[in-house]
Amino acid sequence: MEAKIKALREQMEEELGRIQSKGELDEFWQNYLSKKGSISSLMKELGSVPKEDRPAMGKVINEFKSYAEQRYQEVRRRMDELELAMRDKAEQVDITMPAKKRPTGTLHPITITKNEMIDVFSGMGFEVFEGPEIEDDDHNFSRLNVAKNHPARDMQDTFYVSEDIVLRTHTSPGQIRVMDAKKPPIKVLVPGRVFRSDSDATHSPMFYQMEGLVVDRHITLCDLQGMLDEFVKKIFGDSVKTRLRPSYFPFTEPSVEVDVSCFACGGKGCSLCKGTGWIEVLGGGIVHHRVLENCGIDPQVYSGLAFGIGIERIAMLKYGINNIGLFYENDLRFLKQFKN
Ligand code: PHE
Repeated sequence: MEAKIKALREQMEEELGRIQSKGELDEFWQNYLSKKGSISSLMKELGSVPKEDRPAMGKVINEFKSYAEQRYQEVRRRMDELELAMRDKAEQVDITMPAKKRPTGTLHPITITKNEMIDVFSGMGFEVFEGPEIEDDDHNFSRLNVAKNHPARDMQDTFYVSEDIVLRTHTSPGQIRVMDAKKPPIKVLVPGRVFRSDSDATHSPMFYQMEGLVVDRHITLCDLQGMLDEFVKKIFGDSVKTRLRPSYFPFTEPSVEVDVSCFACGGKGCSLCKGTGWIEVLGGGIVHHRVLENCGIDPQVYSGLAFGIGIERIAMLKYGINNIGLFYENDLRFLKQFKN
């Protein structure tokens, strides 16, 4: 029996020395220390030991058992330390490593241009107002002095939602909404999407406009020219000049088309200005007295100026973009070139 214990002890030490994981340690416990383990079997074999030797033998086995338990605990502690050390190592952060680059988006060129335009005009005291993209005939046409069957309705190829509801063809209905909501002095910008059934390299069925409206006492065409002059200088550069050409819009009288001197050739004539030295950038004029009346503003007391600027047009000129479709394709190779 003693020889057996000695052999078991040697075997146990050898096995403990080989243990690498908690799983192996559990197995060790099963094999030696559980009820079915080899130390319990030793106890059972005690019955075959001569009676007088039993107490001494029992004591030896018990001592072996507590020794085995103690060794088991030791190895267990070693395993815990090992596990902790391994976890520490795995979770270690090397703060000297180069950081991962997170791709950041940029603003869309139309948004950049829109913000820049708002910036320039808010410097002159303009507020920003937004109106609905789906408008009624009244706001989009009638109250802007474009009666039903008025030939000017053909100037804009309208998308009709129903007989009286349209996708707004311009931001000018914003003028009506502003004048309904507040009384002069008024100085607002109305940026937004507009829709027309029209599509080629410079026209898109959906595009952006920025409306401007100023209503106060003694507003004249000079105020319009002064403001727009300041605007184009801020956007295209100090050497750029403006020129007003007579035009026609039903809601302004007089109406003007505003050109800027070509900033590519300085006015000599090039491909950008098609040899004329001038580039058309917007339409505007003095608010028609009937439009003021339609909004309950007395044209004897007040006068107003209004203008509408195509945001894409400004962006195309500013960045030298020759196809309006590029703005809406969301091609990253295009979009990434614009940093704000
Ligand atoms: N609404 C006109 C257009 O879209 C532009 C405009 C606005 C003209 C304000 C005069 C005054 O063509």
